[in-house]
Formats: sequence, structure tokens, C-alpha cells
Amino acid sequence: MSKFIVFEGIDGSGKTTQINALHRALTERSIPVHITREPTGNSMGKQLRKYLTGEEKTDLKAIAALFAADRLDHITAEDGILDNLSKGNTVLCDRYYLSSFAYQSVDCDLDWIMALNREAMQMARPDLHIFLDVPAEQSMQRVENRGETEIFEKLERQQQIRKNFFDLFEQLKDKESILIIDGTRSPEIIAEEILAKVEAIL
Ligand code: ADP
Ligand code: TYD
Repeated sequence: MSKFIVFEGIDGSGKTTQINALHRALTERSIPVHITREPTGNSMGKQLRKYLTGEEKTDLKAIAALFAADRLDHITAEDGILDNLSKGNTVLCDRYYLSSFAYQSVDCDLDWIMALNREAMQMARPDLHIFLDVPAEQSMQRVENRGETEIFEKLERQQQIRKNFFDLFEQLKDKESILIIDGTRSPEIIAEEILAKVEAIL
């Protein structure tokens, strides 16, 4: 049966690298996979990227609400999350509502952000959230090497966001299936561990 698997982590934690590796491994095993991400490539996601790069500015609560709206569109759109799951595709998604809880709660009230995401949590709850854990100093080094910066990519902020993720895991441990992976090792070793865990739920 198709599964909904989300990758989470602070910026530069290796999500893209690991999603691509898992995609390759599942495809080799003839498992149909759909890869996707948030913010999406749709109109709301594109607007979010303008706010994230600082090209345009708005209120931080408006950004939180737009992330939630982009997510609802992502869930329900043609070729979106539910559509792909119903076609039998396993969906691998780079970030989902735990990112909103961890990032937007730096500036906004967490209960309010959770309320904004309640529908998403009911309509499309991931079978597994894979959290790639890397200390902020290390992930920031990787991001600097990559040469792009976005408004949330500052060291102290990333340290706060990583802590927020761990507080959330404690708060949501009975509701969400969360796998914490040591993301400081080599990409190949991490990919092997993730594949073994994913094969166990497929
Ligand atoms: P994210 O999607 O979480 O921002 P990426 O997969 O784009 O992370 O990785 C960020 C940078 O770190 C990239 O330059 C990538 O090549 C590098 N990287 C990814 N995984 C590892 C790893 N396990 N060890 C060292 N560098 C890594
Ligand atoms: P992304 O492009 O995945 O960043 P990276 O590859 O560096 O991890 O995500 C863009 C930024 O959007 C990232 O800083 C996290 C932020 N974000 C939120 O603040 N809230 C959200 O709900 C999501 C999905 C992303």
C-alpha cells in the first residue's frame, strides 16, 4: 500500500540528498514514488519563496497562514498528495506541517499555528516523519558552502528551530510517527538506515 513519508530537519540537514537517495532505491525496487516539497511550486509556494528570500516583505503571521494555505492546496490539488496516494504512489515530501510548527513558532503562537494546520493533520497525516538531525553549526556550514541564504537561515535561529523540533517530538509522540536519524554521518550510511526503516513499513 502507498505510504506518505515526510523529511524534516533544519536548513541544510540533508533532506534533498536523502529524498533523492530513497527515491532511487525505491524505484530500483519497482515501488512507484512521487517526490514533492513545501513550499510548493504552485502560486502560493512561489509567493512564499519571495518572502523567504526577502524579495518581498509581509507580516510573519501572514507567512504562517500562507504556509498553511499552500499545504491545503498541496494536499488537495490535482497531482497533489492525496491524488498520488490514491493512485498507489508512495509520496516523499520535503517538509510538511512539523516545519510550520518548528519555524513559525519562533515568531507566532504555536497553538494558533497548530489550529491553522488542523485540517491538514486530519486530511493527510504522514505514515512517517523522518527527522535528519544535524547541529545548527554544521548545517549552517553546509548552507554557506551552497551559497544561498534565506531569511530563516541564521545560526541562532536554526538552534532555536532545532530545539523547537525536539520539544514538538515530545509533545506529539503519541500522535505522530517520528523517526530521528543522526544526519552527521556520511550520506550513504544515512541512506541505508532510512531505506531499512522505510522497507519495514512498506
Ligand atoms: P536540505 O535539503 O536539508 O537543505 P541538502 O540535501 O540540500 O539539505 O544538503 C545541504 C548541503 O549539504 C549540500 O551541499 C549537500 O551536498 C551536503 N550534504 C548533504 N548530506 C550530507 C552529509 N550527510 N554529510 C555532509 N554533507 C552533506
Ligand atoms: P527549503 O527550501 O526546504 O529549505 P532547505 O532546503 O534549506 O531546508 O525550505 C525553505 C524554507 O522554508 C526553510 O527555511 C524552512 C521554511 N519553512 C517554514 O518556515 N515553514 C514551513 O511550513 C515550511 C514548509 C518551510
